[in-house]
Amino acid sequence: MSTPYPLTNIALIGATGNLGPHILHALHTHPSPFQLTILTRSSTTTTTSSSSSSKNNTPLPYAPTPFPPSIKIIHSPSADHYTSQFLEEVLKGIDAVVLTLAAAALGEQQKGIIDACVKAGVRRVVLSEWGSDTTNPLAVRGVALFDAKAEAVEYAKKVVAEQPEGEGGRLSWSAVVTGPFYDWCLKLGFCGIDVKNKKVTLYDEGKGEFTATTLTQIGRSVASLLTQPNNTKFANTYTYISSFTITQAGIFAAVKAATGTETTDWTVENKSIEARMQEGREKAARGDIHGTYDLIFGSTFGGSKYGSDYGNRREISNKELGLEEEHLESVTREVLEGKRPLVEW
Ligand SMILES: NC(=O)c1ccc[n+]([C@@H]2O[C@H](COP(=O)([O-])OP(=O)(O)OC[C@H]3O[C@@H](n4cnc5c(N)ncnc54)[C@H](OP(=O)(O)O)[C@@H]3O)[C@@H](O)[C@H]2O)c1
Repeated sequence: MSTPYPLTNIALIGATGNLGPHILHALHTHPSPFQLTILTRSSTTTTTSSSSSSKNNTPLPYAPTPFPPSIKIIHSPSADHYTSQFLEEVLKGIDAVVLTLAAAALGEQQKGIIDACVKAGVRRVVLSEWGSDTTNPLAVRGVALFDAKAEAVEYAKKVVAEQPEGEGGRLSWSAVVTGPFYDWCLKLGFCGIDVKNKKVTLYDEGKGEFTATTLTQIGRSVASLLTQPNNTKFANTYTYISSFTITQAGIFAAVKAATGTETTDWTVENKSIEARMQEGREKAARGDIHGTYDLIFGSTFGGSKYGSDYGNRREISNKELGLEEEHLESVTREVLEGKRPLVEW
């Protein structure tokens, strides 16, 4: 086991997506003197507010304003991926790499980044995990997204074990299990609740318990994980964090409280989890991507049957990471009042 070392120069890859900006925001506003670099593909028109290195001056389409000028942005020369040569070059001098990669990049692209981290002397790679507890034998099987994440962890374990001694440093990996992103899911209707049209679909009466985390809490967890005085603690292991362990019925109650409505104001439909899982399996078998959503959310609402309530069964690191306590009712209210924007610049 290596000795503690400061992780100051941080590179983020995938920072322009759904999750990345929240981690970037947490690192950028953290009191630690992080030096932040974003790697982005040249097909993306990422800019800083004063950047001349950007392809053009169009602000990032996902963010209300461009990234702050203190953040270095490096575009890859290839339009849609990163070559090993590019990665090895730009990752020299970087202490930690945080990956929030899109589904399409979780396989070979992620493995290539892990390889480049070793060659460049990076000390920590935080893998693009950020979801269900796929280590639980109860977790739903046959979801390509989960398989790619599990494979990336296995690959990182192998690379870390086999890396040469003494060359620039020794790489370790981290993977953070978060469950569904609560605010993101509520906003996008993935909790089964359509607030605008007052329609709710409860699976098995909405009784299954599952653990979820907000985007802000995930951002805080990464900043904290990278600044642990003994930073070997979260190395080469999964870290479990959460905002709360909840049920669909509990979310519905919180939404009703936040909107001042009663059940009678809503159209309530009840569906079976197993029917949704079966639908998901059938769609996935014929290559329909929507099957993945059915399987992920079916197993989430299926609760303990699929290990989705990891907050009840795993060691949660919130306290060690100094994470704030969050409450379903207040977060729900904030989401519905627009106080939890999906990108927070
Ligand atoms: N638990 C949940 O509820 C939940 C929800 C959503 C996502 N997630 C997880 O969070 C992680 C990030 O997801 P996300 O939704 O933030 O991703 P995303 O928005 O789909 O994509 C993130 C970034 O990945 C980069 N990217 C896209 N295609 C790529 C490719 N072929 N090669 C290299 N980079 C590529 C892009 O950055 P550039 O254009 O800047 O290169 C993109 O902005 C994933 O592990 C995902 O499974 C979990």
